[in-house]
Amino acid sequence: MAVSALGYYDDFGGRFVAETLVPALEELENAYREHVLSAAFQNEWRDMLRHYVGRPTPLYRADRLARLLDPAQKTIGELWLKREDLCHTGAHKINNALGQVLLAKKLGKKRIIAETGAGQHGVATATACAVLGLPCEVFMGSVDVLRQAPNVARMQMLGAKVIAVESGSKTLKDAMNEALRDWVTNVRTTHYCVGSAAGPHPYPMLVSELQRVIGDEVRVQFNQQSGGLPDGVVACVGGGSNAIGMFRAFVADPVALYGVEAAGEGVHSGKHAATLTAGRVGVLHGARTMVLADDDGQIVEAHSVSAGLDYPGVGPEHASLMASGRATYLSATDEEALASTERVARSEGLLIALETAHAFARLPEIAELERNKHGRPARLALCLSGRGDKDLGTLRDRLGFGKDV
Ligand SMILES: Cc1ncc(COP(=O)(O)O)c(C=O)c1O
Repeated sequence: MAVSALGYYDDFGGRFVAETLVPALEELENAYREHVLSAAFQNEWRDMLRHYVGRPTPLYRADRLARLLDPAQKTIGELWLKREDLCHTGAHKINNALGQVLLAKKLGKKRIIAETGAGQHGVATATACAVLGLPCEVFMGSVDVLRQAPNVARMQMLGAKVIAVESGSKTLKDAMNEALRDWVTNVRTTHYCVGSAAGPHPYPMLVSELQRVIGDEVRVQFNQQSGGLPDGVVACVGGGSNAIGMFRAFVADPVALYGVEAAGEGVHSGKHAATLTAGRVGVLHGARTMVLADDDGQIVEAHSVSAGLDYPGVGPEHASLMASGRATYLSATDEEALASTERVARSEGLLIALETAHAFARLPEIAELERNKHGRPARLALCLSGRGDKDLGTLRDRLGFGKDV
């Protein structure tokens, strides 16, 4: 989808920030055009993606899971998983982090800051900073510091400083607030490496450009391994970076786009993160988008069992894709995500991230919709955005694994 000169996707996006940040965002936008789109930058970044990250990641046909979900073989014809869990550091986040840290070096920045929820973007940024030689500080809500403890240790091991944020809900939104506050103060020397396709212009545009590699690869691999295009592509949606990375390659084709958000304890429970399904238009972290807010427009706390989806906003391009009807957004509860994690582990031997599990949870309904549309079992491709080692503590507490031996 085209973005306007002012950073709008139809009615969503823009740059609602403190005056002090405007020059830095303009500098970043110019750098995006001068570097990110240049052949020299693309060669350097893609060389690292290949030899350091391990791209292209495989597209794997998950027949056992498909049969478990649809024993009669009526709705799911083929189910293909894009294995972003096999990226170095275990999630798609490294594609974006490496690109942004490379760009920051070109801009002569001396320090990198980032926010993180699940810790995957923090680990990816700490990794990119280690390999490219820049100091790194990561803001993380103190609730997430506890529930994603393995990733805190990984970031520290990689030489990054992790700063626990105690304000608000002590989760991703508050970490992003704190990172923006730091950036306002240190903007000349510091690059803020935003971890999702959210935030003020040009971040949604920059991050989606760095994540489009996912969908571009799926397009080629699907054609080689199955033939033609999938009927639908599916991804979980937090801020929306893995989903937009998957969607971009198919947005101009007759391919259905499905995003799945976190319904937490249920979209009517008041404890969820289903911004697109149950939110309203508002401004959060510098962009006009769909948010969770009360009648006075105050942002309310989100809830999800998965730290990476526990965010009361979403990238503006998704708000626009929903408004135009081009993409369909569904949601899955904590319980459904936990059950999916176990199902995928048992049927395919894949320990998936709790974020990703939300996308798996809606596969039966998505397959049904596509079957009804095409009159035959659907061919679907799902972005397996990350691996679940980081979630073992939650799985232990919620499902009891690892206790009775
Ligand atoms: C494995 C994984 N998938 C998905 C997400 C959600 O982020 P996004 O919507 O930007 O892809 C996260 C965020 O931390 C994550 O770690």
